[in-house]
Parts: sequence; structure tokens; C-alpha cells
Amino acid sequence: MRFVLASKNEKKLKEMNEILSRLGVEVCSQADAGVDVDVEETGTTFEENSMLKARAVMEASGLPAIADDSGLCVDALGGAPGVYSARYGGEGLDDVGRYRLLLSNMPKGQARAAKFVSVITCCFPDGTAVSARGECPGTIAFAPMGEGGFGYDPVFFLPKLKKTFAQLTPEEKNAISHRGKALEAFQEKLEEYLR
Ligand code: IMP
Repeated sequence: MRFVLASKNEKKLKEMNEILSRLGVEVCSQADAGVDVDVEETGTTFEENSMLKARAVMEASGLPAIADDSGLCVDALGGAPGVYSARYGGEGLDDVGRYRLLLSNMPKGQARAAKFVSVITCCFPDGTAVSARGECPGTIAFAPMGEGGFGYDPVFFLPKLKKTFAQLTPEEKNAISHRGKALEAFQEKLEEYLR
């Protein structure tokens, strides 16, 4: 079975193929499927946005399409930046600018609990869908630490490991991350759906 990935990220394509090839699923890029869809993420939940992206690519390609949506939710900020994680602080900021802004917006003297969330959705041409969520709890560090990863990784602290996501190897991060957990749950649900 062939699925199209509703993302232009080569790393995500490789990761999806590594996991879903076990189920006899081949994931191809939008270019391979002959489509080029850019979807505006107008939803207010990770579920809505991943569904919007997957449905648009499924409709354009006529093939089952997979999308993911993820972000960082901080308790003391009422769940922000949440679905707006990639756009936090506006267009002008890069990853470092965004996590610096987050650190400066953290209310003083309050708990710093946070979680990363990832939702993966596959939409099928018959209108059905399979969706799975993964979460990774942690806290917001007081200063960035570590060189690895991307995005908010240097400020996302794991109290049990006493390290930020940016201080873990990719394998260590994948084993506990929101995306790793969502992919695992998604694989199980998809297996059931295809049975
Ligand atoms: P999207 O899922 O591609 O819409 O982007 C989600 C945004 O959330 C990214 O641009 C990052 O800023 C942030 N994000 C999601 N997952 C991670 C992660 O594993 N580490 C650091 N930042 C992340």
C-alpha cells in the first residue's frame, strides 16, 4: 500500500518509511505523487491541523495521506505556544529567537511544567481516518542547554534524566519523545485498521 506524506521534510519521510515498512506500507513524497499542496494550519488543536493537512493531500493525490502536527504546551502560559509553536513571536524569529522569547515570557515564581505533543493522522480516500497522539512531559529550563535537536529542544528539560532534549542522542530522544510515542501508537492503530 502506498501513502503520501503531507510534509516536504525529508527526515520525516525517512522516519515514517522506517516504521511503516514493517506493515507493508510505502510512504512517498508529495513530489513522487505528483502533487504540491501547502495547507494553512487554521485549526486550534493538533488533531484538527494534522487532519487538515492529511485530507488536503489525500484529496489532491487520490492516495491515503499522512500528516503530523506537533508543538510545545506550557502550563504557566495556558498551553501556549501549542499549535502556534512554529510561529511563536511572528515570522521574524528563528528557533533561538523563539525559545528566548518563551524563556522571557515565563512567569516568575510559577511551576514550569510543560509537554511536547505530536498527533499523526492518515486520511483515506473513502473518508475514513486513523489518528494517534503522543505526549512527552517535562519542564522549561531556566537557560538553554545542549547543542542537539531543533526548535525548543535546548529549553525542554527532563527532570528524571537531568538533561534537555538537546542533550540527548537522536536515539535517546526518539525513545521517549512525543513523536516517538505518537508513531508507536499510530503504528498499532494502523495495523488494526489494515487487518
Ligand atoms: P509542525 O508540527 O511542523 O507544525 O511544527 C511544530 C513546531 O513545534 C516546530 O517548528 C518546533 O518549533 C516545535 N517542535 C515540535 N516538535 C519538536 C521537538 O521535538 N523539539 C523541539 N521543537 C519541536
